[in-house]
Amino acid sequence: MKLGKVLVACAWPYVNYIPHLGTLVQVLSADVVARYYRLKGEDVVMVSGSDEHGTPIEVEALRLGVSPKQLTDKNHAKVVELFKKWGFSFNNYTRTENPVHKEFVQNHLMKIYNNGYIFAQETEMLYCEKCRRFLPDRFVEGKCPYCGYETARGDQCDSCGRLLEPTLLIEPYCVICRSKPVIKMTKHWYFDMSKFSQKLSDYISNNKQLPINARNFSLNLIKEGLKSRAVTRDVSWGIPAPFPEAEGKTIYVWIEAVLGYVSATIEYFRNREEPEKWREYWFNRDVKTIYFVGKDNIPFHVIILPALLLASHEDYNLPWNVSSTEFLQFKGEAFSKSRRIGVWIDEALKLFPADYWRYFLTATRPETKDTNFSWELFIEKVNADLNDTFGNFIHRTLAFINAQFNSEVPKPSCLDEDEEQILKNLKEKVETIAKEIESCRLQSAANTVISISRMGNQYLNEKEPWNVIKKDRDKAANTIYVSAQIVKALAIASAPFVPFAADELWKTLNLHGSVHEQKWDEALKPLPASHKIAKAKPLFRKIEADGEKLAEMLEKVRETLAKSA
Ligand code: MF3
Ligand code: ZN
Repeated sequence: MKLGKVLVACAWPYVNYIPHLGTLVQVLSADVVARYYRLKGEDVVMVSGSDEHGTPIEVEALRLGVSPKQLTDKNHAKVVELFKKWGFSFNNYTRTENPVHKEFVQNHLMKIYNNGYIFAQETEMLYCEKCRRFLPDRFVEGKCPYCGYETARGDQCDSCGRLLEPTLLIEPYCVICRSKPVIKMTKHWYFDMSKFSQKLSDYISNNKQLPINARNFSLNLIKEGLKSRAVTRDVSWGIPAPFPEAEGKTIYVWIEAVLGYVSATIEYFRNREEPEKWREYWFNRDVKTIYFVGKDNIPFHVIILPALLLASHEDYNLPWNVSSTEFLQFKGEAFSKSRRIGVWIDEALKLFPADYWRYFLTATRPETKDTNFSWELFIEKVNADLNDTFGNFIHRTLAFINAQFNSEVPKPSCLDEDEEQILKNLKEKVETIAKEIESCRLQSAANTVISISRMGNQYLNEKEPWNVIKKDRDKAANTIYVSAQIVKALAIASAPFVPFAADELWKTLNLHGSVHEQKWDEALKPLPASHKIAKAKPLFRKIEADGEKLAEMLEKVRETLAKSA
């Protein structure tokens, strides 16, 4: 059988800070999908990395009085360690300071330049005389000329999502010293995207996977007319611009970071000493490439990345799907580092195991509207779904096998109609999960996993094997046999979502290897009668605290982490 190939990616988190849970949603989504396709037997490459350049990093480094490189070295190392603890299964989680990336970006941009899509132009830029620096991107804020939002940034408005240029801002000010900038002439290199308007609009219209929000937003931008984007900046932190006479300029962070998906694939295969293999992921049309991004990232992935790829004339695969989520908010407000609103990924793991968060964040993934994080909802999801439904059904079944059947899966006699029906429902639900994951409806997929265990609990409640066994051992054996099949299916089907618990369950089922090395189809292959299992242990623990208590615990964790930093 010829294996399919899937490239799974998520937006590269800026490493000015450790990511918060809102950023994590993209990484987690990519991981769920990558784990699923591996179970399906596809050749999966999952890539991303730390976005190290750009003004978000420079602004924070200035604030801390360290160099940008010192800041990103430290944070990248922390993020790598934390992502391991979260169970993320990257093939390559790299960084934009890696030499393969820098070299690839410079070569790629020179190709585009030589193809005639990049031109230089004298232009007016904002300049802060007090700080003696040009003010691109996040060095400057002001009012959005389109929607009037008060604190739009030099490159994008957070409220309406439109791409901006600093000089378009109304009443701009320098974010470092708050003074009013002056206008100064400088030379920059521009990428003429309008040359690709037709191709981009064909690509978007013909690419049915693209979700409706990404599609409409992007088609609309094209209709409004694509403007040339400056690809250079007057800052020293970044990848040096490779164009003739561009000494001292660096590449605009977004232009290079989106090319990181390609360079990270190249780097991955170089490290494996298969230096040409990356091409199979970027030029073969039968590869699926799936990107997970926040809605503010849509234009960069659906317009700028495809335009940069088209402009090389090399026939790259354009993104097949860009699954873009809405925002995760914290009690109705945007996560904010400066105002300490939200939960950060290091803090989260000090409070609860990764699987609790992974389940919670997938089951509440903001797919159609902004969603709200609250401790109450977290407690409800973990307790009601993960512990009382999923964990409980599994534990009831396995503990019963331990206690009543000498830890051996009982032998079924002829199954009755109810039992056949349950197994049929199980099959349908497992197939539904697969479809949901393949169409990036991860929230529904997580809920379908739970619904399998809910069905199992109802089944046990109706059949009461603990009573029936006293009179009719064979009948109880049938019930438990069927329940054991559901448990096995759950181990596989839950593996993308709660990889640690699923593997622990696999071990308790006493099956060979790790659950993550299995095939998805294994979910519906019966556990043989007389198969011996190990002693059941509860997979989760109920949270015995209210929201207020958890908020207090978070404060404590925060203090401890701040001390150790
Ligand atoms: N660092 C950006 C953000 O946090 C995302 C970059 S995605 C990339 O919004 F593809 F450009 F790397
Ligand atoms: Zn200033």
